[in-house]
Amino acid sequence: MKNLSGKVAVITGGNSGIGLGIARSLAAEGCNLLLVGMDEEKAQRAAADLAATGIKALGISCDVTKRDAVEAMADFAYDAFGTVDILVNNAGVGYGGQVFEIGEQDWDWVMDVNVKGVFQCCAVFVPRFLERGTEAHIVNMGSEQCFGLSDPQFGSMIAYNTSKHALLGFSDALRRDVAPKGMIVSLICPGPVATEIWNAERGRTAEYGDRNPVADGAGDAVAEMGMDPDLVGKITVAGMKDDDFYIITHDYIRGMIQDRYDEAYAAMDKTDRWLKEFG
Ligand SMILES: NC(=O)c1ccc[n+]([C@@H]2O[C@H](COP(=O)([O-])OP(=O)(O)OC[C@H]3O[C@@H](n4cnc5c(N)ncnc54)[C@H](O)[C@@H]3O)[C@@H](O)[C@H]2O)c1
Repeated sequence: MKNLSGKVAVITGGNSGIGLGIARSLAAEGCNLLLVGMDEEKAQRAAADLAATGIKALGISCDVTKRDAVEAMADFAYDAFGTVDILVNNAGVGYGGQVFEIGEQDWDWVMDVNVKGVFQCCAVFVPRFLERGTEAHIVNMGSEQCFGLSDPQFGSMIAYNTSKHALLGFSDALRRDVAPKGMIVSLICPGPVATEIWNAERGRTAEYGDRNPVADGAGDAVAEMGMDPDLVGKITVAGMKDDDFYIITHDYIRGMIQDRYDEAYAAMDKTDRWLKEFG
């Protein structure tokens, strides 16, 4: 979508961090915005700031894990703006810990927000895009962890890592399904960004119980050395304008991608031997 002026974007998690960075960049292109977050007041404050730049911007709360809530949010978006052209599935939560440290409810929370939330939003918006037959762009928030593990200094984060790997598969499958209908899918893959991601418990709902006492190693380090979320926003919008699938923000991720590919490719040597021996 080369020209974003006058388009309407729904951004989940748009009231904070990277989502807000993307919102600022889309606003600079003249895009109208619905900012969605767990904290409605914060979403409305952020929207008011962006509306002052001359675009239309509104804020609303919606728990993306809940189908009813997402349906209601979509109804609100279409009522308020008349149409939706861009869905940015950015909402997500961070959580550390190894497999024997995290509780079942911690696992469910991370998977529900980071993976099921993206499914819920796509399941609600894609049929509406199809019905209207308008050009549409779906932007999913992955991570460097779509390709491998983050730097060991950030500690283990097995649930988060799994959730972001899942979004690579989900986004790729979605792209193949919706491309023939003229829809674009992008996957943003940032390394560390200076946001509140490691203070994600602020949005944890009661159904997931109390947090398991796991030491998160990531919080302070990410806040100190993470990229500016506004820079992630600028890169994201540049990639969106080129209809790119992968939008990768940090240069060292090249090495992670190469390592993953090299290891899997080398494993094929044994496959060849096994097939000769047993096949
Ligand atoms: N910060 C990083 O280092 C980093 C790196 C790569 C990817 N990401 C991803 O970027 C995305 C945004 O995170 P951030 O770093 O800006 O953190 P953030 O904590 O500032 O923003 C997270 C947003 O998600 C929203 N959210 C959480 N649970 C929700 C729910 N159930 N329903 C609706 N909204 C919900 C919050 O309200 C908030 O607006 C996440 O998907 C995260 O995994 C972050």
